[in-house]
Amino acid sequence: MNVKFFSAQAYDKTFFDKANQHFGFELEYLEAPLNVQTARLAAGAEAVCAFVNDQLDSACLHALHRHGVKWIALRCAGFNQVDLDSAKALGIKVVRVPGYSPEAVAEHTLALILTLNRHTHRAYNRVRESNFQLNGLLGFNLHQKTVGVIGTGQIGLATARILKGFGCQVLGYDPYPSDAFLAIGGTYVRLDELYSRADIISLHCPLTPENHHLINGPAIADMKRGVMLVNTSRGGLVDTRAAILALKSGQIGYLALDVYEQESEFFFRDLSDEILTDDDLSRLMTFPNVLITGHQGFFTEEALTQIAEITLSNLRELNTTGACCHQVA
Ligand code: NAI
Repeated sequence: MNVKFFSAQAYDKTFFDKANQHFGFELEYLEAPLNVQTARLAAGAEAVCAFVNDQLDSACLHALHRHGVKWIALRCAGFNQVDLDSAKALGIKVVRVPGYSPEAVAEHTLALILTLNRHTHRAYNRVRESNFQLNGLLGFNLHQKTVGVIGTGQIGLATARILKGFGCQVLGYDPYPSDAFLAIGGTYVRLDELYSRADIISLHCPLTPENHHLINGPAIADMKRGVMLVNTSRGGLVDTRAAILALKSGQIGYLALDVYEQESEFFFRDLSDEILTDDDLSRLMTFPNVLITGHQGFFTEEALTQIAEITLSNLRELNTTGACCHQVA
């Protein structure tokens, strides 16, 4: 089987080539992102392997179909970047990698929370300038704080488990509550109650058309003044402009983002020699209480190993049975 990878980075090649020793597929790595303009590069491949910011809209899927692509293997958990109805109509099967190392994202979430809370990002720079003053670095204990987890699936649960270890009270909101969350001592509440009680709010739900801009002006107004908001899920969950206004007024006290609404134009690329054209991203980067990472929650050895293994086994399952347990279309 010939598989063409889009948005491929050097680390994709490292981990997929290693996993492919057990599969023997023909893998070709393209740096180009996948969209309607680049879909023709898939010609000759039975499958394409795509990532979070590839744009698999209806036009792109039609182009892939014209070039003979039968399967799309997403090397990520989320699938909001794919027009699933068009894929189904064209008979293109789409598989993903659910639940690979949820601890990778959960631990990154904690890294963001602790960095912002203890101002480690500022302390690091200060000490390098031989400035050992503590003014401005005052933090707070996580112990006995209330944390609201929105989406208590695999990553939300792993995050809640770590937070319980810090002695936090963990509130959860999920339209599909889980016994596992209750078993670790989490408490389910309504969303408005979570907003009003939580000192820290962390997003772990998928992005869907229904929850686009879930965190908008009115939602932020319902939160505690000075709340810490953490988004390691998908950028479109947060209305960036509303978050900027709330940072300016002090309603949001800390903001950590591993994902950003317009990230497809910027993330996973070195733009250090260029002028950043996104005014919202530029503004966010000026706040001392905002911490941004470039969608690296998944980026651990363990997670990349599992992503490669599961992606290739999804394709083998499709190839041998015509269906796959991780199929979303
Ligand atoms: P999962 O499917 O195990 O859990 C998602 C949970 O969200 C489910 O329990 C679901 O019922 C709940 N949910 C759905 N809509 C909701 C809503 N409107 N409000 C509250 N809860 C809602 O997924 P998993 O593995 O925990 O991943 C969660 C998300 O994390 C993914 O969809 C993806 O967007 C993001 N992610 C980010 C990564 C990163 O590198 N930053 C890496 C992997 C995933």
